[in-house]
Amino acid sequence: MDRIVGVGIVKNYGNLKVTVNVLKNIDIIIDSHDFVGITGASGSGKTTLLYILSGLERPTEGTVNLFGKATADYNDRDLALLRQRKIGFIFQFYNLIPNLTVRENVELASVLANNRDPKRIDEVLAMVGMLDRKDAFPNELSGGMQQRVAIARALVNDPDIIFADEPTGNLDSVNAADIMEILRDLNRLHEKTIVLVTHGEEFLKYCNRNVRLADGKVVKDVRLDAV
Ligand SMILES: Nc1ncnc2c1ncn2[C@@H]1O[C@H](COP(=O)(O)OP(=O)(O)OP(=O)(O)O)[C@@H](O)[C@H]1O
Ligand SMILES: [Mg+2]
Repeated sequence: MDRIVGVGIVKNYGNLKVTVNVLKNIDIIIDSHDFVGITGASGSGKTTLLYILSGLERPTEGTVNLFGKATADYNDRDLALLRQRKIGFIFQFYNLIPNLTVRENVELASVLANNRDPKRIDEVLAMVGMLDRKDAFPNELSGGMQQRVAIARALVNDPDIIFADEPTGNLDSVNAADIMEILRDLNRLHEKTIVLVTHGEEFLKYCNRNVRLADGKVVKDVRLDAV
C-alpha cells in the first residue's frame, strides 16, 4: 500500500532577488512496509525532503499524498491532527522539555493530541526501556536515554509513519545500534512505515531501501536486504 507519494517536488527558499532551489523535481513513492534510509551529503536536501513528506512544510511545486490524500487538500486543523495522531517525528537533538519528567514529556504529546492514556504512556516507555527512569528529568539522562524518550514520545499516539532526522547523530555506536534496532522492530513487528535520514552508511543495513540525494535530486533508489 502506498503511504507517501511525492510527485514533482520542488522546494525553493529565498526572496524575489535570490532563490535557492533546494529540491529539484523529486518523485518518491513510499510503501507502508518501507524502512527507507535517506542519505546524501550535507546540504543535499535531506531534512527539507523529510519536512515536506511529513507535511511540516509545503512544497513550492508538486504534490505530496499522505494516506491517499494530497496534503494541499487537508485544512490546517486536519493537517495538525494528522501530525499529532498518524505521524511521529524524531529529531536529531531530542527536543525534550527540560522541566518536565520523562513521563511528563511523553504525556504532553498525548495531551496535545487529546489522546491521554496512562497505560499507553507506560507501554511506550517500556518499549524503549525507559520505564524505570520515568521520574527523571532530561538533564539527568545520557544522550542515548534522551533519544529513547524522544522515540517514546513519537510513538505515544500510535502513529503509522515515523520520520526520523539523524536520530543517532549524537550517539556513540552502541547507543546508535540500539536505537536502530528499536526502529527496525517498529517497522517489522509493529508495521510502522519509517523514513530515516542518516549520515552514516553503516545504518543502512537496518533499512530495506536507500534513497540517495545529491544537490536536491534523487540519484539512487535501491532495495536492500535488511539484517
Ligand atoms: N529555511 C531555509 N531558508 C533558506 N535556505 C534553506 C532553509 N532550509 C534549508 N535551506 C538550504 O537548503 C539546503 C538543504 O538543506 P537541508 O537542511 O535540507 O540539507 P541536509 O541534507 O539535511 O543537510 P545536513 O546533512 O547538513 O543536515 C541547504 O543549502 C540549506 O542552506
Ligand atoms: Mg539535515
